[in-house]
Amino acid sequence: MQIIETVAALRSALKHQSHIALVPTMGNLHAGHLHLVALAKQQASCVVVSIFVNPLQFGANEDLANYPRSLEADCEKLDAAGVDIVFAPSVIEMYPQFDGKHLNQTMTVTAPAIANELCGASRPGHFSGVATVVAKLFNIVMPQLAVFGKKDFQQLHIISALVQQFNLPITIVAGDTIREHNGLAMSSRNSFLSADQKNTAAQLQQELNAIKLQIQHGSTDFNALILAATERLQASGWLVDYISVRSALSLAPATTQDQSLVILAAAKLGNTRLIDNVDLLR
Ligand code: PAJ
Repeated sequence: MQIIETVAALRSALKHQSHIALVPTMGNLHAGHLHLVALAKQQASCVVVSIFVNPLQFGANEDLANYPRSLEADCEKLDAAGVDIVFAPSVIEMYPQFDGKHLNQTMTVTAPAIANELCGASRPGHFSGVATVVAKLFNIVMPQLAVFGKKDFQQLHIISALVQQFNLPITIVAGDTIREHNGLAMSSRNSFLSADQKNTAAQLQQELNAIKLQIQHGSTDFNALILAATERLQASGWLVDYISVRSALSLAPATTQDQSLVILAAAKLGNTRLIDNVDLLR
């Protein structure tokens, strides 16, 4: 496995590759990331994993400085998983024009309006930052396919829109959410949780599944379901950012006509913001 830090070296390493899969990550890798790597390996002859904590997608009050970084351990896991190339650029390599504060000399992608809802409502600019770095990674690696997790359902939706609307010849593959034994979705941010909080954290998925079950049993009063789940979470000490029932296709608020739904949530336990979602057909 090669570990490459510059765009020029990566381009030269990929020159003769014809079927490349890219798995973009911010590192601190867990079994969820490795599941995406396994999907990539099944479908391509050369797997590139990028590890880059992207400053553009963190708000001023967010955890950029504290975001867990573990490049050496990550590379060991990726080597064992049969990855061909790790691309781990510096901030200056990715954004030579970015001085850490001002973006006015940096070309960015503006995400569509859906990026201002759900997670975007409390993280302004987040999805434009994601779309910008992913567009750059696509241009640098020029993969035939790229793998993203359904865990970040809104991100997956926006990246699919990026590929479609910018006519990029890249197939987006979606990986299922990998969970801890208690149902908690794996996340790099879980390392911030205490043992107690990890137990409580499993409740987020349980509440989403409770809503799913009631919708599958015919309930259409989404607001009442959301309110009841929010109250139960609050009673256990969660600060709920949102719970929302959406069309899984458009991410627009669900109507009684929609067959393919997704229930999404974001909530904080202490200082740790967790997200999760479950999808369903009815
Ligand atoms: P990161 O949070 O490191 O996630 C990298 C990829 O792993 C994403 O596609 C995410 O959806 C997926 N993932 C995370 N947890 C998962 C789980 N429990 N099961 C399956 N897949 C999971 O998402 C990002 O980084 C960044 O926004 C990025 C796309 C790299 C752009 O900077």
